[in-house]
Amino acid sequence: MCDCDDRVANDPGSGPGHSRRRFLRWATAGGVLIWTGVAGIPALRALLYPATHRNPVKGLWVKLGPLVSFNTTAPTQVNFAEPENDAWIQSTELKDVWIYTDDDENFRVYNGRCTHLGCRYAFDASRGVFHCPCHGGMYDVKTGAVLAGPPPRPLDTLQHRIEGDVLSADYMDFRVGVPEKVPVES
Ligand code: FES
Repeated sequence: MCDCDDRVANDPGSGPGHSRRRFLRWATAGGVLIWTGVAGIPALRALLYPATHRNPVKGLWVKLGPLVSFNTTAPTQVNFAEPENDAWIQSTELKDVWIYTDDDENFRVYNGRCTHLGCRYAFDASRGVFHCPCHGGMYDVKTGAVLAGPPPRPLDTLQHRIEGDVLSADYMDFRVGVPEKVPVES
């Protein structure tokens, strides 16, 4: 004779106990999903942000030195280290500018990269010009105008300011090899 009532009561896959266990399993899984989303999305954004984010064009104000430190008979070169962020890697890059003044009151500050392909140029005292060793580009020290060679535009001048007796410049780089002066992202 069939003892059907006992079978239903002893079956672990049915009845009120089973429903409660199934509800608890779903509630636990839902909670885990919610917390994964809450904690995981910001973590994922933080992980991917440096690789996907580009800084807008911006300058870097650099103190170049006291006004009296600049030579009035020849341009002065100033080197400095600029912090660089490349995705997750932080480093510093050596940069330079050239400062021209003939009275210690009026200044021109040039980005130290040749506008042709970005080589560092130098002051050629024998000829009184800036000379780029890479392809023979030459520039006027007073105006930055191209005197010879392949550079497509004059030297890139930088904004500068004088605070107290200290000269500072708003350092930024520009695209090389093009006639227009276009700031590049940093
Ligand atoms: S990089 Fe200066 S002339 Fe070519």
